[in-house]
Amino acid sequence: MTTESFLDGLSLEQKAGLLSGQNFWTTKPVPDAGLPSVVLTDGPHGVRRQEGDFDTIGIFHNVPATCFPPAVAVGSSWDPVVAERIGTAVGEEARALGVHVVLGPGVNIKRTPLCGRNFEYYSEDPLLAGVLGAAHVRGQQAQGVGASVKHFAANNQETERMQVSVEVDDRTLREIYLPAFERVVTESAPATVMCAYNKINGIYASQHRWLLTEVLRDEWGFGGVVVSDWGAVDDRVAALEAGLDLQMPADRGAGDARVVEAVRAGELDEAFVDASAGRVAALGRFVTPRTDGFDADRHHALARELATECAVLLRNEVATLPLAPGTRVAVVGEFARSPRFQGGGSSNVNATRVDAALDAVRALADAHVPFAPGFSLDGSGDAATLRDEAVGLARSAEVTVVFAGLAEHDESEGFDRETLDLPDVQVELIRAVAAASPRTVVVLANGGVVSLEGWHDDVDAILEGFLLGQAGGAAVADLLYGVANPSGHLAETILRRLQDSPSHLNFPGEQGSVRYAEGVLVGYRGLGVLDVPARYPFGHGLSYTTFETRDLQVVGTGDDTATMSVTVANTGDRAGKHVVQVYVGTAAGPVRRPVRELRAFTKVALEPGEERTVTLDLDRRAFAYWDVAEGGWVVAAGDYTVQIGASAEDVVAEATVTLTGDEIIPVLSLDSSVGAWVRHPVVGPEIIESFPTWLPELPPPSTEEGLGFLRMVGSMPMRRFVADMGSAIPSGDLDRFLAAAAAARSERVG
Ligand code: BGC
Repeated sequence: MTTESFLDGLSLEQKAGLLSGQNFWTTKPVPDAGLPSVVLTDGPHGVRRQEGDFDTIGIFHNVPATCFPPAVAVGSSWDPVVAERIGTAVGEEARALGVHVVLGPGVNIKRTPLCGRNFEYYSEDPLLAGVLGAAHVRGQQAQGVGASVKHFAANNQETERMQVSVEVDDRTLREIYLPAFERVVTESAPATVMCAYNKINGIYASQHRWLLTEVLRDEWGFGGVVVSDWGAVDDRVAALEAGLDLQMPADRGAGDARVVEAVRAGELDEAFVDASAGRVAALGRFVTPRTDGFDADRHHALARELATECAVLLRNEVATLPLAPGTRVAVVGEFARSPRFQGGGSSNVNATRVDAALDAVRALADAHVPFAPGFSLDGSGDAATLRDEAVGLARSAEVTVVFAGLAEHDESEGFDRETLDLPDVQVELIRAVAAASPRTVVVLANGGVVSLEGWHDDVDAILEGFLLGQAGGAAVADLLYGVANPSGHLAETILRRLQDSPSHLNFPGEQGSVRYAEGVLVGYRGLGVLDVPARYPFGHGLSYTTFETRDLQVVGTGDDTATMSVTVANTGDRAGKHVVQVYVGTAAGPVRRPVRELRAFTKVALEPGEERTVTLDLDRRAFAYWDVAEGGWVVAAGDYTVQIGASAEDVVAEATVTLTGDEIIPVLSLDSSVGAWVRHPVVGPEIIESFPTWLPELPPPSTEEGLGFLRMVGSMPMRRFVADMGSAIPSGDLDRFLAAAAAARSERVG
C-alpha cells in the first residue's frame, strides 16, 4: 500500500495521531493499515534501550549493549571507517534489541570547550564532523536501522538549551553550523533529523520554517522525518507548518488535539498534516525485527580495536612510550581501576562489560605492576595520604603512569563546565609523582578538553584518551605497550587559557540569548586570525613512527576546483597510520577568511619504509564562502594556498593555485554605495570616466586627489551622494547605468 492510499482511509484524528509518540520511545501503530509502532531510542555510541515499559523516562535502567567510543573519540580518529564500523555495529545491536531508529549521531560544532555535551560531538570543524557523521549513518542504516542526525541546529551549549536564542548570521550558519548536517543529509539520507531545543535568531528550531523546510527539504532534498528533540515543541501547529513531523515524546494527546482543532478552525491547512503523517508512516520501512541477539564478545573486541584508533598521543619526550614489557611500571590514579569511558545523560549506555586499564596493563607487563589510587572520585579519604602513597610507588618505579581526568559528575548533558582545569587533587598528584618518578606518563579520560597547564612540562608523555568506550582500558594498555600505534589527532583545540577561546566573550550569553559574535572564526579558525598559539592545536597527534610528506602538487581543474597530490612515507621502524590534513587559505573575496580551513583529509596506513601518493579532489566548496547578498556560495577570483598541515598550526608543505572563480555581477541600486558603483565589474569603468563630466569642479579620478575623494565618499549611498554633492549628475545617466547593470546580471544569473 502506498503512503497516499494508506492515508486516504484515515480520519483527521488518526492522521494527527501519527504526529506524536505513544509514549517515550515509540510511535503509534495503526494495526488495521499494517503500520507498526516504530521504536526510537538513544545512541549513538551504543544502543540505550530502556528496560521495562516506555511510559516513564528511565535514564539508568537500560538493556545491556556495547558501549563503543563516543563521538569525541571517533572525532579524534579522523577516520570515517571507524565511524562507519561503529554505525554498523550499533545497527546490528539495535536490530537485535528491536530498535528501529537510533537517535544520533550528533554533529553539532564544538563552539566552546566548555559545552557539557562536547563528548557527544565530533569536532570544532564542520568537514570532519560531517564526514564522520555521514559514515556513521551509512553504517547504521545499511543494517536497516534508521539514524537521527541531531541536534539541528546551532545547539552548541547546554546552558539554557531549551530557551536560549542563538544570534548568528547567515554566513556563519552556512559555513560553520550547517555543513555537517548538510553532508550527512545529502550523502547518507538519514531516516530522521532531530531538531534542536534552542531558538535560532529568536525562533525555536522546532518551528523554524526556513531551517526545517527551506534549507533541509528544499535545498538539501531531505525526504525523511523531522523529529523533535524530546520536549522541544513549543507551539505544535507552528512546528507542523514549519516542517516538524513527529513530536516526541507523547504529550497525552495535547499536540494532536491542537492540530485537529486548528484544521477544523481553518487555521491550518490539512495538507501539512497529510505530508507529515505520510512521512511518519513511511518510517515503518525501517522495521526489520530480529531476535537472535548480537555477538557481545565480537563487539567488545571491535570496541577495543577502534578505541586504539582514537586516542591521541600529545607528547612523548625521549621516546618514553611505548613501554617495554619488562619496564618497572607503577600505575597511579583511580581512573585506572574505575574507568571513565562515556558521558552522562541520554546517551549513557549500559555496557555489556568494562575493561579497566589496570588489569590490561598488568596483563601486558612482564613485571609486577603496583597500583595506588592517588585520589578519590567522591572526595572521600585524605588527599595528602592518597597522594603520598602514590608518590611512594613512583619513587621505586622506572615509569609511573598516572590516570587522570574528569569524573562523571564534572561533565554531562544538561550543563556546561565552568573551567577547563582538572581537579586540584589530580594536578597536585601529577606534579608530585612527576617530581618523584624517573619518567611520568599521564593518561587522560575526559569528554571535553582539559587544560594541561601547571603540569604539562613536568611529565614526559601524555596520552589523551578522551572517552574510549567500554574497552577503552584495554585499548589504552595496547597503546602504552605499543601493541597498537597511536594514530589519533585532535579534532578540537587544546587551549592554553580559556580566554583564548574565540567564543569566550560570548559564552554562554545572557538575558536569553547568546551572540555568535566570533562568526566563522570558531576554534582554530579564530586562533589563527588572532595569532594565539594553542597548547596543542587542532590536528595534532604523535605516533611511535615518523612520517615524511613531500612532492605536493596542486592543479586547478576548472574555474573553481582543483586536485592535489602528495606523497607520504613512513620513515620509522613500525607500522603506523598517518592523517593527511589539507587546508586552504586565501585573501580572495570581500569577506574575512580564516588563515586556513580544513578542506580535505584522509588516513593512510603505512608499513615501515612504505610510501604512498595520495590524491584528493578539492571541490568548489573547498574554496567558497557564503555570500549573503548573493544568497549562495561564491568562489572569489584569486590565489588559494593549499597547505598540508601536521596540525592547523604546523604547515609542512604548501602550493598555490589561482582560480578564475565566479563572475559575480552584483545588484546595483541607488542605495548601493558610491564605491559599489565605481567597482561594478560592468558599468564601473564607465562611471569613473563620467565623473569629470558630471562634476568638473572636482579633481578627476585619474589623479591622486580625485581617487582620494572617491575613497572618502565611497561608503555614501549613491542616492545621498547625488542629493548632497552630485545634483549635477543627469538622472538619465544613472538610469542608463542601472539598466546596464541589471541587464548584465540577469544575463549572468539567467
Ligand atoms: C537529548 C537528545 C536525546 C533525547 C532522548 C534529549 O534530552 O537532547 O539528544 O536523543 O533527549 O533521550
